[in-house]
Amino acid sequence: MRVALGSDHGGFELKQEIIKYLEEKNIEYKDYGCYSTESTDYPIYAKKVAHGILDGECELGILVCGTGIGISITANKIKGIRAAVCTDCFTAEATRLHNDANILALGGRVVGPGLAVKIVDTFLNTPFSGDERHIRRIAQIETE
Ligand code: RB5
Repeated sequence: MRVALGSDHGGFELKQEIIKYLEEKNIEYKDYGCYSTESTDYPIYAKKVAHGILDGECELGILVCGTGIGISITANKIKGIRAAVCTDCFTAEATRLHNDANILALGGRVVGPGLAVKIVDTFLNTPFSGDERHIRRIAQIETE
């Protein structure tokens, strides 16, 4: 599995902790930026990561901004992307099982690195349930 990573300046430091975790676990990743704590705009990285997934370069993505909110709102505007902001492992597990979320969004100013890494671990290691009712509901997301 290859994981797409992206953050703005508010999420840069937490993204570095996530990179450490991925390297320890030998999980392949592609970092779409940003690459420093210099102020930048989160939509840039949300779009890069979303397209990395839709183009098949990566299977799942992790986006980090200050709150996880702006970057997930942007990603969710893109058809086929289901980005979930999680602050705990229960929702990280549920969003994979029920929503087949393809992006985890985290708030670098919200969750500490220890919890964030557990949330990432849960998200990456939980498969979609494949239940018919969840497939039906996910299909309904894409229609107006
Ligand atoms: C940047 O200051 C901050 O607004 C951004 O990281 C994010 O939290 C937006 O939702």
